[in-house]
Amino acid sequence: MLRRFLVSLTLLVPLVAGAAPTPVEQDRFRFPSAVGRHGMVASPEVRASRAGIQVLKEGGNAVDAAVTMAFVLAVTLPRAGNIGGGGFMLIRDPQGKVYALDFRERAPAGSTRTMLQDGKGNRDADKATIGALSVGVPGTVAGMDLALKRFGRWDLKRTVAPARKIAETGFHVPPWLTAEVERVRPGLSRFPESKRIFFPSGFPLPTDSVWKQPELAATLSAIELRGPAGFYEGPVAAKIAKSIQVHGGVMTVQDLKSYKALWREPVRGTYRGYDIDSMPPPSSGGVHLIQALNVLEGFSMREDGLNSAINLHRIIETLRQCYADRSRWLGDPDFVKVPVEYLTSKEYASKIREQIPDRKARTSEQVAPAQVPGYESDQTTHLSVADEKGWAVSMTYTLNFSYGSGLVAEGTGVLLNDEMDDFSAAPGRPNGFGLLGGKANAIEPGKRPLSSMTPTIVQRDGQFVAAVGSPGGSTIITAVLQVILGLVDFDQNAQSAVCEARIHHQWYPDEVNYEQGFSPDTITLLKSWGQNMRRAESIGHCMLVRRLPNGDFEGGADPRRTGGTALGY
Ligand code: GLY
Repeated sequence: MLRRFLVSLTLLVPLVAGAAPTPVEQDRFRFPSAVGRHGMVASPEVRASRAGIQVLKEGGNAVDAAVTMAFVLAVTLPRAGNIGGGGFMLIRDPQGKVYALDFRERAPAGSTRTMLQDGKGNRDADKATIGALSVGVPGTVAGMDLALKRFGRWDLKRTVAPARKIAETGFHVPPWLTAEVERVRPGLSRFPESKRIFFPSGFPLPTDSVWKQPELAATLSAIELRGPAGFYEGPVAAKIAKSIQVHGGVMTVQDLKSYKALWREPVRGTYRGYDIDSMPPPSSGGVHLIQALNVLEGFSMREDGLNSAINLHRIIETLRQCYADRSRWLGDPDFVKVPVEYLTSKEYASKIREQIPDRKARTSEQVAPAQVPGYESDQTTHLSVADEKGWAVSMTYTLNFSYGSGLVAEGTGVLLNDEMDDFSAAPGRPNGFGLLGGKANAIEPGKRPLSSMTPTIVQRDGQFVAAVGSPGGSTIITAVLQVILGLVDFDQNAQSAVCEARIHHQWYPDEVNYEQGFSPDTITLLKSWGQNMRRAESIGHCMLVRRLPNGDFEGGADPRRTGGTALGY
């Protein structure tokens, strides 16, 4: 307690010593962070955060804690927590080496390039986002198992147990869950099993009632007993495949059995002396995060001030180019060649920077994807954990849209993803996030759809600095970018960095989304420079853990959606 008080006091010193705080100091410490001496977790749901901190207290490492939290979220945060989806995890070991784990969903073997199109060759939004054809082969269970086998101190059985117990005994339904389920009623109620689970007696899960999920508990129990085979083979796999086929999908038990999570090389960059490791393709997140940081490094961001019009303009124009490149070049590296090195080079960044006009917006038509030499031409969720031994995890996983495909496989309690919409269902036409994609991201059997997930680890001189990530579809990259700018350029504490107002641009549609919290004068100025400014409700939901130079931990849980909780001890 005393320690916690002293840590808080240290953080507040600039505010209490001497004269009134300067505006910069106010920005840095505007919101108090969670603090801890031994470890820190941050997740979008309180039970998951509690389970994670308990693992650390019992001697598990950050990987054990992250996996435990991921399974708990599959029970307590049905909009995105999952075992029926997939994602990406970055792991830092105590020596500072970072590993990237890809447990992204795959297209079933029976997939075809046009399977999500209507009769006219357009993306069919209904097929792409609701029901059986939208489901990719889930990767979460395989991913959690692989992470533990290589780096965990605990096994799968021990990390699944807390989630299974919550599913068995139930938990009190919070008001946001009732409201959310009602909002997605049209999708969920198309499927009798989903309707039965989420609308008992015809009404959404009543607030404060105890929600038990016996079928999901049984599935988790099968994983406890048989490991990944409890999910990918046997009765659970048979029920998942059957439900998908009954509703017109193409996934088979063989697709489930042959699913493999993979280790990949993280994409690496630097920003003002900090080392940045992030997720490589099939996520676009790391490539474009590093690309954007490279461009912004050449501008005097700190001197020009947090949220100044000129800095926002630079961020917008940088993102305009990044998302143009994304549309052209990014896809599953097992199927297409992605020019990661070129896109993340300082040399290409300086070319982009030279083309950004001062105080004048370009139109997206004026910005084309890179000509790469030598080349022919939400709902997601994030958790971050760090422990005192030096392990850290940044993990983003998803069902894609809120409550995924809406389809719960009968008798399993498993809500399935609609990740197939992250492919370019009809290349050149936007997906559900308005993102344009090309041939590199067309549907092919066994391929992983392109993602924007950006789990990221920041280090300096070999020391862990921060683990951060966000949900938010196409806005994930921009949210993570702005949190890193807050930490590095504006010395914000963890909570202030995740609370700061955000902007987003993704090339097309040619508009800048901005949140409440910017000065109206700044917005007016940006409009006068030709930026097409549109107010957005909220951008991202970042979960950040950070280690201070004195060894203490800070945590920041983004308040944009309910439930975010950072806990330290
Ligand atoms: N499903 C959102 C993403 O992967 O970017």
